[in-house]
Amino acid sequence: MARPAKDEGARLRAAQLRETLEHHGYLYHVLDQPELSDAEYDALFDELTELEAEHPDLQSPDSPTQRVGGAPLKGFEQVAHPVPMLSLEKCTETEELERWMARAEATLAGASIEFTCEPKIDGVAVALLYEAGRLVQAATRGDGATGENITANVRTIDAVPLRLRGEGWPARMEVRGEIYMSQDDFERFNDAAREAGGAPLVNPRNGAAGSLRQLDPKLAATRPLTWFCYSLGWAEGWEPERHSEVMARFREWGLRTNADFSGPQGASDCIAAVAAIETRRAELGYDIDGAVIKVDSLAQQRALGARSRTPRWAIAFKYPAEEASTLVEGVDFQVGRTGAVTPVARLAPVFVGGVTVSNATLHNMDEVERLDLRLGDRVRVRRAGDVIPQVMDVVLSARRKGARRVKLPTACPSCGSKVLRLEEEAVARCSSPAHECPAQQKEALKHFASRLALDIEGLGDKLVEQLVAEGLAASAADLFALTVEQLSALPRMGDKSAANLVAALSDARHTTLPRFLFALGIREVGEATARGLAQFFGDLPPIMAATPDVLETVPDVGPIVARRIHEFFEQPANQALVAALQESGVTWPALEVQRVEDEAALPLAGQTWVLTGTLERLTRNEAKAHLQGLGAKVSGSVSKKTHRVVAGPGAGSKLDKAQALELEVLDEDQLVAFLSEQGISLEE
Ligand code: IVH
Repeated sequence: MARPAKDEGARLRAAQLRETLEHHGYLYHVLDQPELSDAEYDALFDELTELEAEHPDLQSPDSPTQRVGGAPLKGFEQVAHPVPMLSLEKCTETEELERWMARAEATLAGASIEFTCEPKIDGVAVALLYEAGRLVQAATRGDGATGENITANVRTIDAVPLRLRGEGWPARMEVRGEIYMSQDDFERFNDAAREAGGAPLVNPRNGAAGSLRQLDPKLAATRPLTWFCYSLGWAEGWEPERHSEVMARFREWGLRTNADFSGPQGASDCIAAVAAIETRRAELGYDIDGAVIKVDSLAQQRALGARSRTPRWAIAFKYPAEEASTLVEGVDFQVGRTGAVTPVARLAPVFVGGVTVSNATLHNMDEVERLDLRLGDRVRVRRAGDVIPQVMDVVLSARRKGARRVKLPTACPSCGSKVLRLEEEAVARCSSPAHECPAQQKEALKHFASRLALDIEGLGDKLVEQLVAEGLAASAADLFALTVEQLSALPRMGDKSAANLVAALSDARHTTLPRFLFALGIREVGEATARGLAQFFGDLPPIMAATPDVLETVPDVGPIVARRIHEFFEQPANQALVAALQESGVTWPALEVQRVEDEAALPLAGQTWVLTGTLERLTRNEAKAHLQGLGAKVSGSVSKKTHRVVAGPGAGSKLDKAQALELEVLDEDQLVAFLSEQGISLEE
């Protein structure tokens, strides 16, 4: 078979990569059934980026690589909406909704109506124009008649397809939906902002709106946004009959629809669906302020028509607010497991997000200063999803004269030791070691007993507080010495519960290395890091003995985490704790050591390889996996430290550089021959 011309090979591979990336984007965003790990997706993405860089003529505006954001804009152009973007009539009671449904049926001369129901997402409305299946324009709602052209920013949102999937889409259509930031992404963004000393976002909706208003699309691209589509604005050459049909087609075309969409259904099922969404509200992972009920038949929608600003064929059912305002009665300082002294606002109780909230974390003193929060202030608080209540901002106009500022205590409220604030840290800490401060002891024990740690059944927070207060346990090792007599002497503790707890403690001693490592409560070592350490080292002694340099070779362990782990095990008190725990019978099965000794024995240990150009007999990912399996590091750039470069057709600047550095260069056949010498044969 004749080999395709070198550029033809690159062109085919680029097309194949784009299709693969789009397909996996669809599985991830629309079907919520990802098949690739992030790392696998990234590897394909990097391959395409590199291929496009080497062959500029292969670049295409709707390639998945073109989402990084273009040049900054001077301002946003105005965009007229051919069909106005309306708002919604609102109701808050089931009876109101029933009356609205009955009125719609009466208007249609008693015809029976089927309804759909979907969450009302608290984000930013957007109208997307698709021409010949390609995204050509994105606009905000604006005043409903005219919005702003935010195409450059919307293109950076991975979940918005630049090309539609499948076939049968109309020549031109406008898809409407809501762009939003998930609660997790909002929290992550704010944690990072606070860490960096920046201003956090007030709520996810502001986060989404602010990102879309960025004039620099590269900045917008750094904000984690996603979207749901919720209606068809208009279409040329497509006349769907039902809203539910529109949504089903949208989904086939790769447009992200809401999994909690229901219908068509009769009035009573629709009312049940409104209640079902409210029940699931905290689990959705994004902010909603209600449900939207729509008439499913588009002919009936047209017959019902619209008032000046709201249609008669849709209504919003509003749920209770997730934001409210209340008074700060005081600020307490809590001491955490790692000694962090955290300001917590004591609030006049307020009903928000479905629960009564009476305190909210203020994170650290930088945050208190940024909010300019004073005692007695009125603040806006937010509690959405399972997220702990947060203070959004201070209502400055309501501040009373002479309102006192919040001061960081100089002494630990638990043990009286000095409170110190290191230069590079936003957090203030109790200066006494964990085992000498009751608050730190309590938190360490709660963590040790928690579900993802040793999972000690029956040892809840209240009981831990009692044990520490009564002097029955100061460290985790003391727990295993507790007797039924000691426990049953505690208030509200019967013989049966005491015996159960002793039995649960005895069971909990048989644990796993990842759980044990996590349970120790080392700063920065979460569950995933604990698992990574356990897999890498196989047992505890090599972890305790590892230097920060060695720790850094564990996947996902950076210099800070490595330092924390090393510091932890360096302390005699922690060494004593580990010894005492093992003496109390805490054990775990040994894990198979995956690296340390083995790696040095691998044939390519210590070598760095670079892959460039197109490979035809295997994908670049496969090649990378084989080389890594032989112990090599596979890097994206050529340097003096590179051992070998594999160059396929179309290799460009990397090959030039490799030649300039006189590195060993293999072509694909040589790579395949090398792999087969190592016992790796490629199936045809
Ligand atoms: S339908 C004619 N469906 O709510 C109204 N709107 O108050 C068509 N919204 O501007 C809108 N989720 O930004 C619809 N599932 C949903 C929605 C939704 C959020 C927003 C939308 C609109 C506002 C109307």
